[in-house]
Amino acid sequence: MSVPLTSPSPTSAPTRPLPIVRTVADLRAAVATFRPARVALVPTMGALHAGHLALIAAARAAGAERVVASVFVNPAQFGPDEDFARYPRDEVADAAKLAAAGCDLLFAPAVSDVYPPGFATRIEVAGLTERFEGAVRPGHFAGVATVVTKLLIACAPDLAVFGEKDWQQLAVIRRLVVDLALPVEIVGAPIVRDADGLALSSRNAYLSADERARAVTLPRALAAAREALQAGVPVTTVLTTVRTRLVTAGFAEPDYVALVNAEMQPLETLAGTARLIAAARIGGTRLLDNLTV
Ligand code: PAF
Repeated sequence: MSVPLTSPSPTSAPTRPLPIVRTVADLRAAVATFRPARVALVPTMGALHAGHLALIAAARAAGAERVVASVFVNPAQFGPDEDFARYPRDEVADAAKLAAAGCDLLFAPAVSDVYPPGFATRIEVAGLTERFEGAVRPGHFAGVATVVTKLLIACAPDLAVFGEKDWQQLAVIRRLVVDLALPVEIVGAPIVRDADGLALSSRNAYLSADERARAVTLPRALAAAREALQAGVPVTTVLTTVRTRLVTAGFAEPDYVALVNAEMQPLETLAGTARLIAAARIGGTRLLDNLTV
């Protein structure tokens, strides 16, 4: 059932081998051995960085006694012209990082196990998904919602942890869990940033040195926008300023820069707790970021 992996780096501290399961039946059998412990699931697409490992820590902080991570590059959430084929994959390195972070089990299914021949079900979350990422990436959220629902049903964790960097995704997952009455607590984990403020993302690996240097304009523009909003500058003025700063720094015209409420509805005035969200492309790399205002 499990394939033990050892750390690929001879210089790193030895960690215990991480069990890996690849089928739902083996996942269920492994999780059953954890009970009655409180189990967390941390779904990922691999290419793990410190942001993912913080999800493991967040699971522990939320009371998980056992943590299961999944690594699955989900073809259903990529558009035909997107980066599914070149998305970074390194299971050996991912397993070593997960083991060192205290993860107990890795679920790494094959595409044919998640989507066997004849697979015909899609989970659509209406209302939250038409704008922003949903408008730019048609079908993306159906792909996310479908695979997350499958993972939650397969693992049946007590809690599942998702990063706040994908703010709209987190809202979609919270909605589907309520709507489908899935007995799982959804925990959002704060964005982890590089020292200069850029949000960690597996896609940052695509950035050239020059793009990486300019990419920091995204978090800086959002931080400045938050200050401006809190100082009473009108929302439309602030959002336009963010767009201008990004384009001036070498980004393409942003896909969106918006202030939204918890239901992902755009706000024209600052009211209650709001989230500033943005997505923009620099060179061939699309970057997302957001922060609470
Ligand atoms: O955020 C991600 O990495 C993915 O969208 C997720 C939640 C693992 C589903 O494939």
